[in-house]
Amino acid sequence: MKALPKDFADLLSARGRRILEGRDRGVRGAIADPRRPFLALDGALDRDKAAAVWRLLDRALGPHLVKLSQPVPPESISGQTRKYQERLRKTVRNRTAYLERRDSRAWRAAEEIGLIAMTASDSYRRFVEIVAGRPLARKFGRQLLCYGPGDYAGPHTDHHPEDPRAASGYIDFHLSFAGPGVQRQLLVYARDGHFTEEADVATAGGISAYRLPFWHFTTPLKARPGQEATARRWVVLGTFLFDEGPCR
Ligand SMILES: [Fe+2]
Repeated sequence: MKALPKDFADLLSARGRRILEGRDRGVRGAIADPRRPFLALDGALDRDKAAAVWRLLDRALGPHLVKLSQPVPPESISGQTRKYQERLRKTVRNRTAYLERRDSRAWRAAEEIGLIAMTASDSYRRFVEIVAGRPLARKFGRQLLCYGPGDYAGPHTDHHPEDPRAASGYIDFHLSFAGPGVQRQLLVYARDGHFTEEADVATAGGISAYRLPFWHFTTPLKARPGQEATARRWVVLGTFLFDEGPCR
């Protein structure tokens, strides 16, 4: 694969196209209810194409990733004065490419492999709207993430209370591509106040959707023994605000 399909629909499996046509009742509006904020879909992307996308991203965007590291602050323990009063900010370690500026090298590389065009296609937006169960704002954000062995994200909410457009919720949409060397990575999230829910995100071609904010974390990526060289999981992330209509 030299470039991604121009139309997101062409990356989908037969099941994925059923979803896109709104014919899968279990998926339509799956995360519309904030009490059911997360959906993971396996088998919605074409398996062979997904494997090719992993190779394409790895080759074309790998050189443009920057390290993201927010470790546990030591003072979160040393500064603690009373038991049971620990506080932990968002901790994370992975690599990322922010696709925000059109003049950045990462943007140009993403454009060359058709990632910008595919995520601008009508079917991409329509798929997210079907899962979200409501219209989404025209403008949206793109970002790439890459988890290597041991990379993770600690418990966090992705709440943006200071941003009036996002304060009452928004959607993150992940296309996830795990390389052949990835053995295990889970997304764990809270329901009814406890971290009881988990989803396997270490699939070669997965789709997941988040109705944020809610508490969640991503477990450290585990490589298959001897296959660390391809133990990377790529995430194409789209961030969508809700369309509040012309009155706003
Ligand atoms: Fe998150």
